Amino acid sequence: METNIQGCEAVLAKWLQDSFSAAFPGAADFSAVRALPATDPRFGDFQCNDAMGMAKILHRPPRAIAEAALAALPRPSFVEKAEIAGPGFINITVSPEWTASLVREAVSSPSLGIPACGAGKTVVMDYSSPNAAKQMHIGHIRSTVIGNALDRIFRALGYRVIADNHLGDWGTQFGILIKGYRECLDDAQRASPTVADLEKAYVDSSTRAKTDESWKNACRAELVKLQQGDPENRALWKKFIDISIAEFTRIYDLLGVKFDLWHGESYYNDRLPKVIEELRRAGLAEESEGALVVRFEEEKMPLAIVRKSDGGYNYTTTDIACAEVRTEEFAPERIVYVTDDRQQLHFKQFFAICAKLGLKTKLVHVPFGLMSYQGKAISTREGNLIKLDELLAEAERRALAVIRGENAQGEPSPAEKALARKIGFGAVKYADLSHDPATAIDFNWDKALALEGNSGPYLQYAHARVRSMLDRYSALPDALPDAAAGALPAVSSPAEKALALRILQFPAAVLRAAETGKPSALAEYLFGLSQLYSTFYQSSPVLKSEPAVRDARIALCAAFGRILAKGLDLLGIEAPERI
Ligand code: ARG
Repeated sequence: METNIQGCEAVLAKWLQDSFSAAFPGAADFSAVRALPATDPRFGDFQCNDAMGMAKILHRPPRAIAEAALAALPRPSFVEKAEIAGPGFINITVSPEWTASLVREAVSSPSLGIPACGAGKTVVMDYSSPNAAKQMHIGHIRSTVIGNALDRIFRALGYRVIADNHLGDWGTQFGILIKGYRECLDDAQRASPTVADLEKAYVDSSTRAKTDESWKNACRAELVKLQQGDPENRALWKKFIDISIAEFTRIYDLLGVKFDLWHGESYYNDRLPKVIEELRRAGLAEESEGALVVRFEEEKMPLAIVRKSDGGYNYTTTDIACAEVRTEEFAPERIVYVTDDRQQLHFKQFFAICAKLGLKTKLVHVPFGLMSYQGKAISTREGNLIKLDELLAEAERRALAVIRGENAQGEPSPAEKALARKIGFGAVKYADLSHDPATAIDFNWDKALALEGNSGPYLQYAHARVRSMLDRYSALPDALPDAAAGALPAVSSPAEKALALRILQFPAAVLRAAETGKPSALAEYLFGLSQLYSTFYQSSPVLKSEPAVRDARIALCAAFGRILAKGLDLLGIEAPERI
């Protein structure tokens, strides 16, 4: 993605580039000159650090370069002050009127200033992708929540997004499962199994296979029958997949997650022999003890098996086929995979193979650290595996207690329940999204549901409060019809200007999240924005001020409310109007 700097930063960059070019015509390429948000607001709103790097090229001290650039053109009206500091920084203060009109312009457009830099381009988002016949646990939340936030962010940037749930729906586990289904479940379970029943059948069967040789062989025989298209085993397999999809969909509905496609691993089965052919032809695969392997001597990585000695194919082979098919079907600019970081080697290997096969699509892995639960690792064997289902139910319960107070009497109303769900799920999602995906995180209820500090509910409350103030404003007899598009937003005090400038950085935060694959860049932005709002709000009466000031301040509040609501939406977090 090209960095498309927007709005005021783009205008300032253009002015600076023109200034440098006018001062030193043809002497260098000035197209990378930028104005960055100032590190210290006491010195200005923006700063340009580029004169320092030009000393060697232009053979002049950086201060002299900066001075010449500023003297070369008349100062535009949107720049109130431009001063040189230290070794050659240019500190820029922009005019309040300009800032205010940019804020109003940005929040009056449906895109809120987010550039459509993805127009005409496609991204395939591969996320969540659980394994069929197993319940989703708290560990799956990260792929689902991070992937869905990136999905929403790319769509907002104008990309066509294909959200594809790459279900683990093929492999040796199905032989074990079919055998387990036949012999480890009772009639009632067999008649309408839940995903939990299937999981139990699998666990019991695979435990038995470890000690019982004839059981193990029977599992293998079931697998072979399935692979050879035996109608009965095929039908069973199909049933397991359908049950899994129905169960996962129920959870995705709760979370507001929707996939365009469910092309699981099995979708690529027919393509696997062709991949092997391509690897052979390209001289990438070689026999090793009956298996076919790809070596990565240059890259200093361990080898990857692409076909086992029994003829079965591997995860790597399927992913190569999958990348090829997606490229043919959708011509995407990039494919983004969101999985935990234990799969990093797999993605490095398979990306390297695709590059050697000449696949042009950009492949991006967004690895995330593991999530533990209240200090305990999530592990199947120790039995402290928290089902995603249970986690979400608990989120609702706890949020309800927060809303109604611990000792509330009587049944909660449907409205309270609905609100509790929004806040509880918002808390769970934000607890995840506010961390850099690369870090491991410990999920903790008190922190996730805190009303103060960096939490989902804090942002939701900030939004609801600003909404309720806007409602009170609308009810005034002399209110302007649209607060956000009415008066120019207030930017006279330092608190107002800081908030206004921060609002203008929203598009950049959205772009940063997309470019880095880290929704945390957006979460961080929203939290900082809300803190600036709270500073402004504490020092600046709004509804009680005289009408001109009141209208200007309410315009700033309305702008903040819109940005916050949109930002939360891009993270997949609902922003209720009232709490
Ligand atoms: N099913 C895998 C798992 O649960 C994740 C699949 C990720 N996507 C992919 N194309 N490899 O770990």
